Amino acid sequence: MKVTVVGAGAVGASCAEYIAMKNFAAEVVLLDIKEGYAEGKAMDLMQTSSLNGFDTMITGSTNDYSKTANSEVAVITSGIPRKPGMTREELIGINAGIVKEVSSNLIKHSPNVIIIVVSNPMDTMTYLVHKSTGLPKNRIIGMGGALDSARFKYRLAEAIGCPTSDVDGMVIGGHSDVGMVPLIEKATRNSVNVSEFLSSERMQQIVEDTKVGGATLTKLLGTSAWYAPGAAVSELVKAIALDSQKMFPCSALLEGEYGLNDLSIGVPCILGKNGIERIVEVSLSDAEKAKMQESAEGVKKTNGLLEVNA
Ligand code: 2OP
Repeated sequence: MKVTVVGAGAVGASCAEYIAMKNFAAEVVLLDIKEGYAEGKAMDLMQTSSLNGFDTMITGSTNDYSKTANSEVAVITSGIPRKPGMTREELIGINAGIVKEVSSNLIKHSPNVIIIVVSNPMDTMTYLVHKSTGLPKNRIIGMGGALDSARFKYRLAEAIGCPTSDVDGMVIGGHSDVGMVPLIEKATRNSVNVSEFLSSERMQQIVEDTKVGGATLTKLLGTSAWYAPGAAVSELVKAIALDSQKMFPCSALLEGEYGLNDLSIGVPCILGKNGIERIVEVSLSDAEKAKMQESAEGVKKTNGLLEVNA
């Protein structure tokens, strides 16, 4: 499989590194507009191959999309990250134009590409790619929920005092500090509901900590996080590469699912060789449905800021 990662910043480079280390892709092309930057990161990463034991060929390109030709999957991380105190939504003015141009360039050289959108505000950028490219909706995937769910599991395990491998939980809804919907009622520790281990107050705190997981790190780091975002993207790419039919919460274009239309928002998706193979409509409690509805209203409000005619 050939994968392109656009944006050789922290998230893009981490994504390329994790894809390579998981050794399921033949080639990763890392592309950036900054002269020599992607080439340098690719060379540095390739010099880890004998140490980390992968055969994936990583190459870099300074804005030459011909090098990305015939990619099966392309990841868009380009755009500016947020600074402490900023919301993801404040990035729209700059990132919308970048994402539109990048997706067009990618499709020109890889007409059958599956696009994974990471750039923020991610749900709106994903919607923008739908509106501006007209690609089939199964081939446009927004990465947010996989990252948010990883943070959710981290908080659950931290509170319970167990390995993260012992817990399971999913976050749906918008990838925003206020719109995320961690499905706490459904979270488990080895199939046992976490309410058996945690007070309701502690469970609510986990929900709140999860929602601001990105902002918490931005405050500590001075910029957006990159390790977990990169790792989350690499898992989506792996599921596509291996046609694994794994379920992840991804931002997908809804046309009636969950009673929602004409927006991309985080919902459970089965991923395989065709990208989104199926959107899964899980049963939600009344409280979860209300939070999902509220989250969708927030995403649509941000979508309204796009200059692209819907
Ligand atoms: C995050 O939540 C970058 O939106 C990404 O860290």
